[in-house]
Amino acid sequence: GMKRKPFVGGNWKCNGKLSGVKELLAAFKGIGADPKSVDVAIFAPTLHIPAAQDCLAGDAAIQLGVQNMSKTGEGAFTGEVSAGQVADCGLKYVLVGHSERRSLYGETDEDCAAKTKADGSHGLTVVFCIGESLAERQSGKTTDVCEKQMKAVIPVISDWSKIVIAYEPVWAIGTGVVATPLQAQDTQYQVRRCIRDECGAEIADSVRIIYGGSANEKNCKAEADSVSELVTPQRSKLIHDMVIHPSTSDALGELPDVDGFLVGGASLKPTFTERIAPIA
Ligand code: G3P
Repeated sequence: GMKRKPFVGGNWKCNGKLSGVKELLAAFKGIGADPKSVDVAIFAPTLHIPAAQDCLAGDAAIQLGVQNMSKTGEGAFTGEVSAGQVADCGLKYVLVGHSERRSLYGETDEDCAAKTKADGSHGLTVVFCIGESLAERQSGKTTDVCEKQMKAVIPVISDWSKIVIAYEPVWAIGTGVVATPLQAQDTQYQVRRCIRDECGAEIADSVRIIYGGSANEKNCKAEADSVSELVTPQRSKLIHDMVIHPSTSDALGELPDVDGFLVGGASLKPTFTERIAPIA
């Protein structure tokens, strides 16, 4: 059977002070998560990265990333940070296409693709965010929206082992309204199906698709068995067709097409690591 390594990200957004970074990471440190069985990434404010690196020195269980980067390389681009600079500072991850970047700063599908492409040979792992608005969900356009966002980036992806897809329904971000297991599973099943149609089964079966939007240590609790359980397309299809049997646990982490989480608000609390421990 084939299984995907879970990925848990904490997106701190533009929150916190330097002193808070140290306090929080001191609490996260030493969780003992085995990097062979789970990837853990903290997306800190860029200014706080050096302090975070100091705090985490020698702890391979938690890696760091930036929340945005330039679509260009180095040069006269005031205020930007390039992929090469991010990699040069020893960071492993970058978020691209977060809905806040798309909605508040006007980033288009093309911008998001250009940023992903800019990573090029720098070897960062891009956590590429997609997701529909409430109006789009209510009018039945969720799959179309996610497919459109995926199809804009797929042509520029050269190394799929360096891509994680984060499905973050806009209506669930920071609202306390978490997607139901059915909504998350159904959408992420469709996203994987889209990747399968475009890129083939091998890529679709190996790429991690994670969920974000009001995820917390309770609703995304994942038991070791269920996360590592066989996640073949057949099983995925079966569960999809069953429309998530009611007796199935409502923990998002147990769904076949949910390979982890991107956590906002709840990652700013020491209890964040409670969602890593069960799958570590
Ligand atoms: O990137 C994660 C984020 O958008 C989700 O935020 O606060 O709803 O967990 P939150």
